[in-house]
Amino acid sequence: INSIRQEKVLKINVNSNDLLNWYDINARKMPWRVSPSQIKAGKKPDPYKVWLSEVMLQQTTVGTVKTYFLNFVYTWPTISDLAKADDNEVMAAWAGLGYYARARNLLKCSRIIMSKFNGIFPNDINELQKLPGIGPYTSAAISAIAFDQPKTVMDGNVERVMSRIYAIQTPLPLAKPLLFDCAKKLTPKARAGDYAQAVMDLGSTICTPKNPQCNLCPWKKGCLGRREGIAIFLPNKAKKPAQPIRYGIIYVVRREDGAWLLEKRIPKGLLGGMLGWPSSDWSNKPQEAAPINAGWATSGDLVKHVFSHFTLYLTVKVAEVPLRTDCL
Ligand code: ADE
Repeated sequence: INSIRQEKVLKINVNSNDLLNWYDINARKMPWRVSPSQIKAGKKPDPYKVWLSEVMLQQTTVGTVKTYFLNFVYTWPTISDLAKADDNEVMAAWAGLGYYARARNLLKCSRIIMSKFNGIFPNDINELQKLPGIGPYTSAAISAIAFDQPKTVMDGNVERVMSRIYAIQTPLPLAKPLLFDCAKKLTPKARAGDYAQAVMDLGSTICTPKNPQCNLCPWKKGCLGRREGIAIFLPNKAKKPAQPIRYGIIYVVRREDGAWLLEKRIPKGLLGGMLGWPSSDWSNKPQEAAPINAGWATSGDLVKHVFSHFTLYLTVKVAEVPLRTDCL
């Protein structure tokens, strides 16, 4: 890999200015984003909003994040408001975004920033990485976008862009360190925040997984993948092993007055702390776990939900119960 690394890094003929010029005209508007012209006019991004948006964007698309982000900053405009928030309200506001550990870490992190950092986000990447829910990606994104430090931000978009312009055929995830080196090489000292967002925008709008718009790309002249005619096939990905399947039974019970029975899941683990339908275990052979005695009927529906590391099929049992009913 080292020899490929040197060879590719030497050959590449793209530079950050071409991308920044493209970004000046094509930056996407996002509710958390300070536009390149505002940045030039001296406006500073709010680290709270950068952090919140980047945590939301870790596993979720920009389109979905927009409404959640606006609702969050409307309800909790500052980190101090979020730190004081009721945990259940925050979990409810997060419902639907998935990966709920992110919401629990958001609360933990906001409280540490209030108690240990006087409510002010640290601007040191190593300090940032010690905070709950902030790993290599988010710490680099906050350092670059909120504090304009020349840190290299790697996400799936950046990996794809780098694999194409450097024509790297080593499959992911093996290629990650090499792609990081390539990205680092291109990261400029000035306008680091704009640059980080520009690469991600390029990956989302031009250098897309399917049908990339190479003719519109500010880096088309120097792109080795394009020159070699292999850009659309990159990045190569190692085959994922088939995901396991788990089964479960959920119990949907409606009381005479229209109330539904929900349970709060234990704080740790998958969907920890969230409200959900009472459920059996999720396994190969789930055990019945009806929450109340009732005349249960099996609805014909089978619910499929794909998690990142397994697929879940849920059988739905339904019942109606009178007003005075006790849980088991
Ligand atoms: N994806 C994740 N963070 C992003 C950002 N700040 N701009 C564009 N796309 C992103």
